[in-house]
This record gives sequence, C-alpha cells and structure tokens, in this order.
Amino acid sequence: MAERRVTKTKLIFGFQVILYASIICTYAADTLSANQTIKYNETIVSPQETFELGFFSPGNSKNHYVGIWYKKRSYRTVVWVANRNTPLTHTSGELTLTLRGVLIIRDATMGNITWSSANSSNTSVTNPTAQLLDTGNFIVYDGLNQENPIWQSFDFLSDTLLPGMKYGVDFVTGFERRYTSWKSDDDPAFGEFSYGIDIRGYPQAILMDGPNVKFRGGPWNGLRYTGYPNLRPNPIYNYTFVLNKRETYFRYDLINTSVLMRVVLFPNGTIQRLLWADDNQVWKIYLGPLGDQCDLYAVCGPFGSCNIETSPVCECLKGFEPKSPEQWRAAESSQGCKRTIPLDCGPGEGFNQYSNLKLPDTRSSWYNQTMTLGECEKKCKSDCSCTAYTNLNISGAGSGCLLWFGDLMDIRTYSKNGDTLYIRMPPSELDLIANGTSSSVGIRVRVMVPIASVVLVILVSIYLLFYRFKRKKQHQQGTHTNMIEHDPENRNGDEDLELPLFSMFTLLKATNNFSMYNKLGEGGFGPVYKGVLEDGHEIAVKRLAKTSTQGLYEFKNEVISISKLQHRNLVKLLGCCIDGSEKILIYEYMPNKGLDSFIFDKSQSKLLEWPTRYQIINGIARGLLYLHQDSRLRIVHRDLKVSNILLDMDMNPKISDFGTARTFGEKQLEANTNRVVGTYGYMAPEYAGDGIFSTKSDVYSFGVVVLEIVSGEKNRGFIHKKHCNNLIGHTWGLHNEGKSLQLVDKCLGDSINASQVIRLIHVGLLCVQRHPEDRPTMTSVILMLGSEGPLPSPKEPGFYIGENMQDTPQSSSSYGISSNNGVSITMLDGR
Ligand SMILES: *[C@@H]1O[C@H](CO)[C@@H](O)[C@H](O)[C@H]1NC(C)=O
Ligand SMILES: *[C@@H]1O[C@H](CO)[C@@H](O)[C@H](O)[C@H]1NC(C)=O
Ligand SMILES: *[C@@H]1O[C@H](CO)[C@@H](O)[C@H](O)[C@H]1NC(C)=O
Repeated sequence: MAERRVTKTKLIFGFQVILYASIICTYAADTLSANQTIKYNETIVSPQETFELGFFSPGNSKNHYVGIWYKKRSYRTVVWVANRNTPLTHTSGELTLTLRGVLIIRDATMGNITWSSANSSNTSVTNPTAQLLDTGNFIVYDGLNQENPIWQSFDFLSDTLLPGMKYGVDFVTGFERRYTSWKSDDDPAFGEFSYGIDIRGYPQAILMDGPNVKFRGGPWNGLRYTGYPNLRPNPIYNYTFVLNKRETYFRYDLINTSVLMRVVLFPNGTIQRLLWADDNQVWKIYLGPLGDQCDLYAVCGPFGSCNIETSPVCECLKGFEPKSPEQWRAAESSQGCKRTIPLDCGPGEGFNQYSNLKLPDTRSSWYNQTMTLGECEKKCKSDCSCTAYTNLNISGAGSGCLLWFGDLMDIRTYSKNGDTLYIRMPPSELDLIANGTSSSVGIRVRVMVPIASVVLVILVSIYLLFYRFKRKKQHQQGTHTNMIEHDPENRNGDEDLELPLFSMFTLLKATNNFSMYNKLGEGGFGPVYKGVLEDGHEIAVKRLAKTSTQGLYEFKNEVISISKLQHRNLVKLLGCCIDGSEKILIYEYMPNKGLDSFIFDKSQSKLLEWPTRYQIINGIARGLLYLHQDSRLRIVHRDLKVSNILLDMDMNPKISDFGTARTFGEKQLEANTNRVVGTYGYMAPEYAGDGIFSTKSDVYSFGVVVLEIVSGEKNRGFIHKKHCNNLIGHTWGLHNEGKSLQLVDKCLGDSINASQVIRLIHVGLLCVQRHPEDRPTMTSVILMLGSEGPLPSPKEPGFYIGENMQDTPQSSSSYGISSNNGVSITMLDGR
C-alpha cells in the first residue's frame, strides 16, 4: 500500500480515486490544520511513523471509531480511542479540527456531531493545529505554542498507559486521570475496570471493578508501590511517583526510546506491561502485578494476611485470631481476625514489628512527609484509634509517617521485598526486647509510667483550674462591650486568632439587615440568611435563636473546636459573631442548596442521575465517618437528613449543621420541647422515644437518607397505596420479596447500576435496624459500600411513625414505636 504525501488540493482528487477504486489512501501528514477534515479511509501518521491515527473497527465490530495505533506492526494494536462510547455506524464519519481548536467527529450523512474534544470552544484560540506525536500523544495547540497544548489525548486515557502518560489526580483542578478497560475486545466503550490513584488517606494505586476495589497497588513507599514487590530499576524504563500539594501521579519513561512498551488494562481486569519483541512480532509480558489469589482485595479480611506460599493462604497476624474459627477452618476467611487480647488504650500499650508485608489499605490513614519514625510512633501512641504506623518513605534512612486507624485491611506476606509495619498491641502481647539491658529498662518503664501519669494528671488539673478561673474573670470584664472585636478577652487569648470573628455591622450589611429576601431557610436552631461580603464573597449566616443559656466563653470554645473540623464533605464554618445576646455562625455558601431541592422535586430530580447519587451517598458516608471517628471531637450529628446535605458547584455533598447541638448547648433544649433536635422520619426509635443518642442513631438517619436518595421519596409522608407503610417499611417488604429495584426513583431510568442499587438498599436496611447494636458503624458502612463481599441479612427495621399517621393494621409491635401525641422528646447531655 503506497503512501503518498498529498497537498490539500490533490486530496480532493484522491478521494475520488478512493471512492471509485476502493484504494486505501494514507494521508501521510502528522498534522491537521484548522477547518481540515480526515475521512473514513484517511489517516495521519506521526513524524517517525511510530503511530497512526484514523478510523478503525475493532475485532468483529461493525462500528467505527477514531483511534491511535502503532503504525509499523503486522497487526493493529490500538492504544487510544476518541469516541469510545459513541461509535459511528456508517463509513461516512469525519474528524475535523474546528477553527476554534475543538476536534469533532461528525457523521456526514446524518450531520450530527457524535464526539467532541471540548464542551465549549475557547474563543481566544485563533490558529489551531492538531498533531500526532511519536509518543502517541495527539495534541491541539494554538499558533506555535506546541509546549502548552490546549488539548491532548494523553489527558484522556483509554485502556493503555504509554510511556510519558501519567495517571493520578490534580489537586488544584480536581482533574483525575485513570485508565479504563474496554467493554470487550470488540467494544472500546468504558468497561468494568479502571486503574488510578485513590486520594482518600495517603494516596494509593487502586484497580476498581465498578464501585469495588479489585486490587490495590497500594501506597508508594518511596521505591515502589507496596503491592508491586517486583517493581525495581531496570534497563528498559524509569518510573516516578509524585505527591505534592498540586498533584499526585505515576508515570514511566523509556530509557531506550526505540523499544515499544505499553501497560494495558484488559476487559477481564488483568493489567499487563507488554514489550514488543521485534524478532517474533509479538507483545511479550514484561511485568504484571502478581495477579495471584492473594492479590484479590481483602481476601483474608481485617488483620488477616495472605501468603501465597502457605496452605491455606490466609493467616492471622501474630497477636490475632480468627473471628469465626469454624468458617476460618472451612477456608472462609473474608471475616478476618480479631485481637487475641483486646486493647484498652492503657499506658503500657506498644507496637510490634511485622516485616515483609504489603501495607494495608490506606483509605483510612493519615500521613506526614517530614516526621521521623520516632515521632510517628509517638503520634500513633497518643491516639487510641491509631492501630499501626510506619515510615512513609523507606528509601535511604527512611522518613515520613503513615498512620492507620481502625481495621487493617488487605495485607499480604511476601517472601522478600515487603514493607515493615508497626502494629499496636496490649502490654501482654508485646514482643520481648532482645537484649538484657533493654528489658530491664522495659520493666522500669512499666513501673514508672503509672507514677508519672498520676503526677501528670494532678499537674494538668491544677493548671486547668487556674486557667478556667482566669478566663472567667476576663470574661466578666468583657460583657459590657457589644462587639466582640472590642472584647478585652480577645487580645490575650491566642486561640482566638484561629477563628475569624465577624462584627454585627459586617453581617447586617452583608445580609441587607437580615432581610427576608436573603433568607435561605429555617434550621433547627434559627434562620439562615445568604450574605455577600464587601469583597464579593458569598456566605451563609445562621442566626441562633436568642433563648440559649450557654455562656459566651463556652460557646466560643465550642465554635473554635467545630471550626477545626475540616473535611471535604463537611460545610466549612468560617467564623462567628457574638453581639450581646446574639450568637451567629458564618458558613461557606453552597450555591446548589440542599439535596432535598433536587431529589424531592419532580423536574430537578432528573438532573441527579444514578452515578451522581451514588457519589453523593459515598460522600455523605465519608463526612459522617469523619465526624464519628476521624475528628478529635467525635461528634454525633443528631439531625442528619436530606435537607442538611448541601451541594457545592460540582455536586459534591457537604454535611451541614454538624455540631450545632453541641454549640448551642443542650440545657435549653430540655427546657423547650418545641425545639427538638432531630427530625421526625430520620430519628432512630431509641432517640425519638427515649432521647438516647449515639453514633448509631446517626447511622439510622444515614440509612433513611440512603433510601430517600435511591427512591426520591420522603420517609415521612410516604404512604404506599396498598399497605400504608412508611418508606422504610415499604423497602423492607420489597427487599424480602427480592424486588428492591422497584424502590428506585422512576426518573433514573437507564442510568442505574442495578447491583449498586441493590447493595445500597441492603446497606440502608442494615442501618435502619431496630436495635442500635445491630446497626453497622460508619467504618463498616464504608467498607461495605467499597467492596463486594457478602453482607449480613438485615433484621426488621425500627421506625418511628409520626403523629398524624396511622399505624398499619397488621403491624406487629416490633414494627416501630406506635405513635401518640404524648411522646416527649428529651435530650440527654452528650458531653
Ligand atoms: C471551512 O471549510 C468549509 C468546508 O470545506 C468551507 O466552506 C469554509 O469556507 C471553511 N471556512 C474557513 C474559514 O476556511
Ligand atoms: C535500543 O534498542 C534497539 C532495539 O532493541 C537496539 O538495537 C539499540 O542498540 C538500543 N540502543 C541502546 C543505546 O541501547
Ligand atoms: C485476560 O486477558 C488477557 C488478554 O487477552 C490475557 O492475556 C489474560 O490471560 C486474561 N486473564 C485472565 C485471568 O483470564
């Protein structure tokens, strides 16, 4: 097949030849200029003829795609596809570079655009060019600025990682690069598997199978991913992992650029690094992950370790024993292990060293790049929920600190090249210190510690008493002034610096004197207004009702501690204002308002497709977990509901109103039963009935929120025509009949992922179980959402039916608390 270099005018002639003689003509240029088009049987070729771009049909498919493949190989290996999900069915497709620098694929007979490289055109582009480079990157640049392309195919990975491509996350823009398998060899549409970096906790490489983790490459230890013990310097390629404030990514580059190498994620979920063997004209496997049984995510459960050289492969880490010995013997290991002797956070606890491991899942971890191993141990020891620690970077003498909280998941034991982990142990389980001198130190330390702690406690108490007394005096001096800025307390207390104080004047101006036009809504503790600060910054202003009896000093302390809670799924508290008896909280403003305005609204709900809803539920779960477990305050929200979930510009959910109950003080609530914390329909039975709240009552509310998001129905107010159950009862009925899918909001149509829906409903039902002790913790909820293992069966739900609803005629007593107007809501003090 002859290649001809043709000019634009000759090209038109060329087409006629093609049409009549069916000769495939290669348009052997490497660029496409503005307003230029390539048709079905034309291609462009990179300067060294390494790569070629054009239309192709994969395997036995009759569909047509625009893609990039290696040019000089005996068979076509596609490395990138443009219109993965929108194939053309005719040979009349055209790829055009528009005058504004956007690549579009158009069906010339139908006239419609099926793919485009950008949603909108950039009007500042004046002279765009598209060029296929020898790296396989197809770039669009403006003028002569080839260094900073306005678009490049390397940013939109298909199933192949070429040398020089990166995968990871840009923290500044939030842009994520992952590579995703094809659906099948014949269909390049987005398949089930994708590989990228998960940035929850310390970033780690993760292969996802739909919403579930299939394999963890794991965290980078400075030399390699902990899950790739075989990754090491080699003559073919260099690799680098970058983690800084701006981004995190992995890439590799060829040392000898005349070889061909690619990493592919196949439709069956296998990842292979392949090297082209010129002699036999085949791709040979250079390196893959081990891909054995032990690479299956969490195959041995929490605190279990998988060792491919033992039989059975699962073992409990030293100091741990199977949670369920019978199942363990039957090689049913996914339940994992528990401590032989539980921890009680006593002073004698320490750490045992475990070597040659694949480090556990870092999604619930914390890290610091500069701490030493010693500081890291101290940090872990000082926090009872810290279960393990290790060096972040093992190169050289080792540096940085990585801490784990809660269960340790997905560990394996290697025969060599593994990592070292230090796991928290009760005193009786600690390994004896090897030589004589240190063991005597050990004994001395054990005697010293109780004495030292008693002394310390006394000293701290004396200090605190003195400090409180001093603060109280200062506070009394300060009550005469109106504006907190003038409060003398302010100049002394350095902690005040951490919380911006707004003056009443600023807030009056921002909210138009608390104009009713600025009112966003009425929360449990008072109205919320939208405000605009002088610099144009938008804020939400919550004016707490004036009846609070909490002292100013306590209020401010609470606000300061709450403002320290920072998580991307929590609304940020920006500051407060205290003016006379007024207490006001200032939050970041959320333009998309509450989730309720979407899911309970007929027209808006169409905008929330299933993947978004799923993301929102996961976000809420993470925010709640942070409140319950990861933050120092351990806050029970007590009023989690759909209208308390706000959405930011990108539809990320943010929990609002957390800590308000705390800030506001509970005494007043007991006195005033009109103002309840909690909302009927979301309150767990033990909370609504007896005022007992715990993290498990939040879990209940979370379960209700999940069911509401899935169904688009309000729990309270939902009555099914046939059986007048509320939403929870209805869901329970459908679940038992195996018809959970019927619960799904009709407007979701085809966007749903049935297995995700069924799993979510199942988890939702586990959360709304009647007895708090049956409900999972948020940690388990997140694990259940992120994996695909079997789930326990939910027991009957508990639910509270509001006053104006009738109990169902057939309801047994176990179906919730029967309602009457006399139920009083009392609040117990949480502190
Ligand atoms: C772009 O191409 C079309 C079709 O070939 C032609 O009609 C049009 O005049 C071109 N526009 C410019 C600005 O070159
Ligand atoms: C690069 O690889 C090619 C093909 O394998 C080989 O012929 C050549 O000698 C290599 N060059 C270097 C500098 O190693
Ligand atoms: C997955 O597909 C690849 C490529 O077709 C093949 O080499 C590999 O053996 C397959 N893996 C499994 C587990 O079937």
